[in-house]
Amino acid sequence: MIVSVLPDQIIITLDGPAASGKSSAGKGVAKALGIPFVSSGLLYRAATYLMSHYGVAFHDDQALLQLLYTHRVELILQVNDNRVLIDGKDITDLLHSDEIDHTVSTVAAHNSLREWVGERLQELHGPFVIEGRDMGTAVFPQAAYKFYLTAPVEIRARRRFDEREADLEAVATSLRRRDRLDAKQLTPAKDAICIDTTNQTLAQTIEQILAYVHAARSP
Ligand code: DC
Repeated sequence: MIVSVLPDQIIITLDGPAASGKSSAGKGVAKALGIPFVSSGLLYRAATYLMSHYGVAFHDDQALLQLLYTHRVELILQVNDNRVLIDGKDITDLLHSDEIDHTVSTVAAHNSLREWVGERLQELHGPFVIEGRDMGTAVFPQAAYKFYLTAPVEIRARRRFDEREADLEAVATSLRRRDRLDAKQLTPAKDAICIDTTNQTLAQTIEQILAYVHAARSP
């Protein structure tokens, strides 16, 4: 389905727990609408990378702030993809390592970092589809369309396992840990449409989101 003629500034938020399908669905929706896709988690991952790279303790939020203000962190929106540059160097391919997966939720709990990420994202100009944990609540409460994707941890673990060929139980344990650490940010916006993706293919989730956007725009 192609939904045409969107207002210039339209923002569509997709929140939910790790591996709930937000990135894949978000990319599919953005592609169908012909607008950019944004992964907010990449900025949390970039901050984690900086701390690890410069040997800063993960609890040290003052040192983290100093790193963020002394290095140039850029989120580049490409068609169907995002790149992260630090001081002009593309480090995107380093941001989905097991080490960063393990520590990013701890780093993302720093309020000062959450403010920094929120401000960077609010500098972006719509239209876009943006995925994360608190996009529809804290960062873009005014977004026109908000979705919250869920699926039980066993289903999410199976999807991640298929992507990365890791040990299934280890993937599930790691997702449970991240769910726990991300819990504070993980409240659906009151006006979000919740979609349980357990029994859906990716294509069905994308269609469902597009159908909501289309229906809301039809007279
Ligand atoms: O979506 P992701 O797996 O790339 O996100 C990485 C981590 O960043 C996630 O465990 C929690 C954090 N995050 C967050 O706290 N708020 C967001 N809006 C996006 C990500």
